[in-house]
Order: sequence, then C-alpha cells, then structure tokens
Amino acid sequence: RKDLIFTYKGTVYPTTLCTAEIFKAMESFEARRDDVILAGFPKSGTNWFGQILSDLIATAAKNNKNETNHHNDVPEEFPYLEIGDPEKYERMKKLPPRRLIRTHMSPQNLPESIFKNKAKILLLLRNPKDLATSYYHFSLVFSPFPSYESWDSFFKDFMAGKVPWGSYFNYLSEWNKYIVSENVMPVSFEEVKENTYLGVKKIVEFFEFPLNEEEIHAVVQRSSFQSMKTNSKNTHGAFGDVLFRKGGVSDWRNLFEEKHNLEMDKMYKEHLAATTLGTRLNYDVYCK
Ligand code: A3P
Repeated sequence: RKDLIFTYKGTVYPTTLCTAEIFKAMESFEARRDDVILAGFPKSGTNWFGQILSDLIATAAKNNKNETNHHNDVPEEFPYLEIGDPEKYERMKKLPPRRLIRTHMSPQNLPESIFKNKAKILLLLRNPKDLATSYYHFSLVFSPFPSYESWDSFFKDFMAGKVPWGSYFNYLSEWNKYIVSENVMPVSFEEVKENTYLGVKKIVEFFEFPLNEEEIHAVVQRSSFQSMKTNSKNTHGAFGDVLFRKGGVSDWRNLFEEKHNLEMDKMYKEHLAATTLGTRLNYDVYCK
C-alpha cells in the first residue's frame, strides 16, 4: 500500500501518477497571462469546474470569429499540470491561447511563473467533511490511490496529511497567503451548487470570457450533475459512476461519527477558523 505514495518537497503524491522526473521537468513550464488555471484539492469538484471552464473556453473561441478555433486541433493532454510524462511541458508550449491547466498542488510548490506572469487562478473550495467523504469513497475504487480497510483508517491518514496531495488543511492555509492577489478567485462547491448560474457568471467575469446570457445558460445546463453523469458513460465508461458519485452537499452525515466530528472541528478551529479562506468555507453552515 505504502508503495503507492512518495513524498516530494514535503507533500505526498501517488507514484503511479506523479514522478520526481515530472516535477523536475515542470521547472521549464512557463505560464502565460491568459492561461486559465483551475486549482483544487482532489475531490473538491475539479471535474465539474473543469467542464465549466473548458466549455467557456470553447464557446469564447467560437465567438472570436477573427481567430481560427484551434481548440479542436489540440490533442487531449492529461489535464493536470503535475500528471503525465516529462515531455508534456514541451508540447504545452505549442498550445494556442487560453490553455486550461488544472492542478491539485499547493501554491508554494507550483511554478513561480504562474504568479509572476499573473495567470488567473480559480481556486476551488469544498467543506472538509464532504471532501473527506468523497475522497474516502473514491479511494476504495481508484487503484492509483492507496485503498483502506475502513473509514476510520482513511480518516486517520486524511487528518495526518498522508493521502495523495497531502493535508487539505495545509493546502487551504497555504492558499490563504495567495488570495490577496486579484488574480486568484476562490469559489466554493457549495455556493455554485446552490446557484450555478451566479457561480458561472462570476467565473465568466473573472476570466473575461466574451459570452452572452444565452450561452452562459447553456454552459450551466451542460455542467449539471445529471448531464455530466449521463455523458460520462461515453467519456469515462464505468469509471464515470465513481467520479460522479452523489454530487451533493452533506453526505458526510452518513459517515462521520462523534469522534470524527470532534477531531475535524478541532483541526478547523486551530488551522483555518481565523483565516479568510476558513471563513469562506462556511463551516458552521455546512459542517455542523
Ligand atoms: P461526491 O463524491 O461527493 O459525489 P473531483 O472532480 O475533484 O474528483 O470531485 C468529485 C466530486 O465532485 C464528487 O463528489 C462528484 O460527485 C462531484 N461532482 C462532479 N461533477 C459534479 C457536478 N456537475 N455537480 C455537482 N457535483 C459534481
């Protein structure tokens, strides 16, 4: 089990997806000002927001009639910055404007050019109890991640930052140092679930995508849990049912016992409650 993870610069990664070579090669990555960066811890909704952003990029490119739409010509690249083969950064240099780049990494480990070149970053937040619940179910079926005999043993590793991409609490504490920048916009899973139209509208304005109302509504519709789950039969096969599990808020209530609540509430209080991002989690609403 332990051979499935390795530590790089203090953070745990899955050996089957990330390698020391890729981290070395990533040093050659040069961000562009018009890159669209999606940052989110595993299970925070990265596939959902990835769908929204790629749809917005494709629609904007179609509208930009003076430019050729290269997007259909670009071969599918494994979309996470830190996953793939070391040569991917060379291939990424050839991609047309508005590259969509997803990452699960903490900001201090990301290539500096992302911040230096002022690429805009959409930072995903999800309440830690639902995120842990989603992560546990995913670990049971996703073979590159270590699996667990019980929820208890997963919870222990999750709280200790021993799951792939490390501690969610550290992740948020680190990102909290970066959100003073106007190029980083935090958005929560829960707020977009509550009102997807407003969430997408916020994203459109932040990245300045040239879309009209009708087009925005179409993007919202195509990003619904049901349509993504149905479509996943084509895009992900049986894996779709794992990736699009419940897609809701509060499923943690089916898994957490008093002892888990106590431990996580304490962790939240000690590490996040006093931070801006901690406040943005709306912990008292979603985790109590
Ligand atoms: P659950 O396991 O709670 O259902 P990620 O993409 O980062 O791995 O996150 C996966 C989580 O996002 C899963 O949560 C999944 O169901 C949820 N999700 C995926 N697409 C969604 C959508 N269109 N709307 C709401 N939630 C979605």
